[in-house]
Amino acid sequence: MASVSAGQAAYEQNCATCHGGDLRGGANAPPLRGVGAADVDFMLETGRMPAAVPWIEVGHLEPLLSQATIDAIVGYVTSVQPGGPPIPSVLAGNAARGRKLFEENCMHCHGSQGDGAAIGFLDWAPSLDHATLTEVAEAIRVGPGEMPRFGERQLSATDMNDIAGYLSAHNARPDVMLPLATSGPVPEGLLGWLGAGLMAFLAYAFSARGNHG
Ligand code: HEC
Ligand code: HEC
Repeated sequence: MASVSAGQAAYEQNCATCHGGDLRGGANAPPLRGVGAADVDFMLETGRMPAAVPWIEVGHLEPLLSQATIDAIVGYVTSVQPGGPPIPSVLAGNAARGRKLFEENCMHCHGSQGDGAAIGFLDWAPSLDHATLTEVAEAIRVGPGEMPRFGERQLSATDMNDIAGYLSAHNARPDVMLPLATSGPVPEGLLGWLGAGLMAFLAYAFSARGNHG
């Protein structure tokens, strides 16, 4: 168990510029009071945080911090204000049942093979090839970004295990951890794509202003 003071020091070094002292949030990022262990762990394990630039989604990267630092920051954030979903314990369950649950709850965003898909203007549900079992379970309970949060009533612990079991079997690896080497170009491509979308949006917004003003 990493010490809370080590976690606080790591938080101040890596997170406070955006999320503020005492997790109170800032102009550049939301408060982290009561977000819960699963949320912080998911964001750090998938390399989404610490962000380089606020509000630019990068998708799944290698973790940017060491495991010890991640555990320490999770401990610090949850010590300041408990609450939010804990890191779920997950086992690979019944893959056939998991496929059905995936079709009902996940496919319309993540695509029939979990390869990722556009979900409306400027938004993208990522490929599920890179998430570990734990990260799948965390995403289900947390609902990162535009993804809805699924509580125990929508998806029980068994349902969650079965979905993880399906994704694990689908990705042909027991722990759902594909080599990240294959993911290198994806975040960059996505960034470029987002950038192009943003430019188009700005151009549209300014021309619309011009027309009406
Ligand atoms: C450059 C600014 C920046 C830095 C540095 C940064 N974040 Fe964030 N963070 C954001 C922004 C902006 C969001 C909200 C948008 C998003 O999810 O991308 C966010 C969202 C989050 C969330 C989700 C919050 C919620 O409401 O569910 C967590 C958890 C989080 N950050 C943790 C961290 C931790 C821990 C660190 C340090 C290791 C960190 N962040 C560093 C900008 C930053
Ligand atoms: C409304 C669309 C939507 C639905 C429904 C949805 N997701 Fe997501 N999901 C997203 C988006 C968008 C993200 C990216 C969030 C971000 O990075 O801010 C995401 C991220 C994820 C991630 C993280 C992937 C990674 O490697 O970083 C996992 C795992 C995941 N979803 C699993 C699921 C599962 C399992 C279900 C069904 C129980 C599901 N999602 C349902 C939109 C959706």
